[in-house]
Amino acid sequence: MKLRQKDVLGLEGVSSGEIELILDTAKEMKTILDSNKKRVNYLQGRTVVTLFYENSTRTRVSFELAAKYMGAHAVNVSVGSSSVQKGETLIDTGRTLDAMGADIVVIRHNRAGAPHLLAKNINASVINAGDGMHEHPTQALLDMFTMREHFGKLEGLKVAIVGDIYHSRVARSNIIGLTTMGAHVKVFAPSTLLPVGMEELGSVKVCNTMEEALEGCDVVMGLRIQLERQKKALFPSAYEYSRFFGLNNENVKDLGSDVLFMHPGPVNRGLEMTSNIIDSDQSVINLQVTNGVAVRMALLYLLTGREDI
Ligand code: CP
Repeated sequence: MKLRQKDVLGLEGVSSGEIELILDTAKEMKTILDSNKKRVNYLQGRTVVTLFYENSTRTRVSFELAAKYMGAHAVNVSVGSSSVQKGETLIDTGRTLDAMGADIVVIRHNRAGAPHLLAKNINASVINAGDGMHEHPTQALLDMFTMREHFGKLEGLKVAIVGDIYHSRVARSNIIGLTTMGAHVKVFAPSTLLPVGMEELGSVKVCNTMEEALEGCDVVMGLRIQLERQKKALFPSAYEYSRFFGLNNENVKDLGSDVLFMHPGPVNRGLEMTSNIIDSDQSVINLQVTNGVAVRMALLYLLTGREDI
């Protein structure tokens, strides 16, 4: 089985079979990461370019490492010092990378739909590394990989997503992906940080209290407050946000010891989650980062035309 599309632009329209294929391939890739050598030649002669118009640590570095571990040429375009600053359009930048032989362009952009525009206009495969408030498919895939690795399955899992749902492309991709895989998703957020029509994204339950969101869940996913995307104040103060919508010892005290705490990062410690949750044995935040490399290796591998290994 292969991926149907040339690009990975979002999880909307991606089948459960394709998600399984990516996660199964990532499982194989993780054995390479766990080996001392961390080196295979699956992408020998291929060129992977990261083109990030927004800041990133995890996503950009993990794509670069994934490409390098598989023998590809990995190049990062530093947008701040590139010809974008001279007014070059996204399409022209993409065509320039195409002309230099890029096989895969990984793009992060503050505008929703930018990866789709690029994908329509260049020959290279395009991977969406986050577009505005739209989707962050590779983050959701690594989150699903981490859940499946721990619980052995996604079907029937109960996942509570708590925080700034409105601005979160991570939440959107996770809701689409998790519901495609048969998981049950509950969300809890200040009403000002909850999009209208939430339930239409999948079978999502919108909760009115933190207690309702956390009850019976297997996974609790906190989200970063995205102050850079807020044009006006959408909650009264950081203190009130952390008190009513943050995860802390008090509101998680009745959860079982097998419940996982997740966060896509970067975390605003004490605002979305207290440090003792972030650093607890039930937190898999660092494991998510490790698994991100395996998932991105799988995507690079599958997009260069390889079938499952
Ligand atoms: N989770 C995530 O996308 O992190 P970065 O912004 O560091 O890439």
